[in-house]
Amino acid sequence: MAEFTLPKNSLVTEGKTFKAPAGATNIRRFEVYRWDPDSGKNPRLDIYELDMDSCGPMVLDALFKIKNEIDSTLTFRRSCREGVCGSCAMTINGRNTLACTKAINDYTDTVRIYPLPHMQVIKDLVPDLSHFFAQYASIKPWIETLTPPPADSERLQSREDRAKLDGLYDCIMCACCSTSCPSYWWNSERYLGPAVLLQAYRWLVDSRDENTGARLDELEDPFKLYRCHTIMNCTDTCPKGLNPAKAIAETKKLLLQRQQG
Ligand code: SF4
Ligand code: SF4
Ligand code: FES
Repeated sequence: MAEFTLPKNSLVTEGKTFKAPAGATNIRRFEVYRWDPDSGKNPRLDIYELDMDSCGPMVLDALFKIKNEIDSTLTFRRSCREGVCGSCAMTINGRNTLACTKAINDYTDTVRIYPLPHMQVIKDLVPDLSHFFAQYASIKPWIETLTPPPADSERLQSREDRAKLDGLYDCIMCACCSTSCPSYWWNSERYLGPAVLLQAYRWLVDSRDENTGARLDELEDPFKLYRCHTIMNCTDTCPKGLNPAKAIAETKKLLLQRQQG
C-alpha cells in the first residue's frame, strides 16, 4: 500500500471563535480557512458568528463583514461583486463557486469557506493562479489571421457563426472547473484543464480565426487535451452554467475529423 508523508504544515488546526454580538437574534455560523505564510504556523479554521440582520445576503457580504468588523487581516480576492470578474472563486461547503453570487440562505447550517482546492495558497482564501493563467496564455486567446482585413469593413461574422460562441465567450476564467477536475489535480503541469480547453475551443470555432490547423496541432498531445476522462466535475460545478466537458469532447471530435481527412 502506498504511504504518504504529509508536510507538517498541512494539518489544519482549530482556530479562534468570534461570538455573535450580544443581543443578536439572527445568527449564522461561518467557518473560514486561514493561513498566513509569514506566521510560520499551520493553517487554522476560524469560526465567526455573524448577525445576519446587519449583513448582506451573499457569502461575499459575510466575508466583507468579517474583514470590516472583526479581523481586517482576512484576505480574499474580489472585484465586480456580480459574477463577472471571476476573482472571488472559492470552495463553499465542498463546492467550487463564486462567493459574490452564492446566497448564504442556500445553506441551512454552517457555511464552510476554503480556497480553491489543489492549488498553492498565497494567503487565506487566495490561491496562486500563475500557472493557470500561463496555461491560458499558451493557447493564444486572441484572434489569429493570415489574410489582410477587408478594405472597407471589419472582419464580419454571420449571426449563425456568432451563435457558435455562445456558452464559450461567457467563461470568466474563475478556475472553479479546473480546480474541481481530478485529472487537473494530478497532472496540472501538463494537462491544460477544462477552463483553458474551453477557451481553446472558443478560438477553434471562431469563423474569423485563420489559424485553426496550428491550434489543433498544439492540442494534439497525450497530456494537454487527452487527460480529460469525461468525469464531468467541471460542468457540474461551473457557476456560469457552462459546459467545458462538451467543449473538450468537441475538440477531440475536430481532431478525429482531421485525422480521417
Ligand atoms: S468554464 Fe465556468 S467554471 Fe470554468 S473557468 Fe469558465 S466560468 Fe469558471
Ligand atoms: S470532464 Fe474532463 S475536464 Fe471535466 S472534470 Fe472530467 S476530466 Fe476534468
Ligand atoms: S467578485 Fe467578481 S465574480 Fe465574484
